[in-house]
Amino acid sequence: MNNRLDTRYPVLPAILERWSPRSFAGRQPEAHKLQSMFEAARLAPSAHNTQPSRFLLGRKGGMAYEKLFTCLDPHNREWAHCVPVLVLASVMRRRFSQVKADFVPYPHCMHDLGLSVMSFMLQGQHLGLHCHPMAAFDPEKAQRDFDIPPLFAPGIIIAVGYLGDPGALPPDLRVRETGPRTRRPLEEIVFEEAWGQSSSLFAGQD
Ligand SMILES: Cc1cc2nc3c(=O)[nH]c(=O)nc-3n(C[C@H](O)[C@H](O)[C@H](O)COP(=O)(O)O)c2cc1C
Repeated sequence: MNNRLDTRYPVLPAILERWSPRSFAGRQPEAHKLQSMFEAARLAPSAHNTQPSRFLLGRKGGMAYEKLFTCLDPHNREWAHCVPVLVLASVMRRRFSQVKADFVPYPHCMHDLGLSVMSFMLQGQHLGLHCHPMAAFDPEKAQRDFDIPPLFAPGIIIAVGYLGDPGALPPDLRVRETGPRTRRPLEEIVFEEAWGQSSSLFAGQD
């Protein structure tokens, strides 16, 4: 399925090909591919090299998968029941400061989690897998069900698997699955010299 966004400039193949499908094939991703994805997540940069991200793997048929699935909001459950792998990505809420010899606020923690999740997803894309991040889930339930220590905050559940047949989705989701994808133009998001002034890199270019 060609679901690519239009681009004016070249980008890495995995970035161009990545999107968030709702139709997943049932087959389990190979262990070596999942291993590479977690390795990529591990290599992500983080503030003070805190490395705050933690991942909990649930493979369909196992207990963790069932628990993660029940944490999802109903509109995600509507399609995620076909997904072979669910991964809960959590993050340290506070970081330990050697200088203060104590835990201190860590305002960048979700930023750092996002970087490692993107590395995870792009590595998967490079290996022919697709990922769909989901923030619509019950983080308190996940915290309780997995006895996650209070220092860590559940951040996102990621669906992982091979692309499936969009024809198997309910009609409304099938329309969304095959509908156009959109992005703001570069002129709207890249400024130069002053806030709100489109960069001359892009203004007036086709
Ligand atoms: C932090 C975050 C939370 C998201 N939560 C959900 C979600 O709960 N359910 C869902 O279907 N998609 C979710 N998405 C997927 C976005 O809707 C999707 O990335 C966006 O529409 C762009 O589409 P694309 O990923 O196919 O390029 C989430 C994405 C991010 C980054």
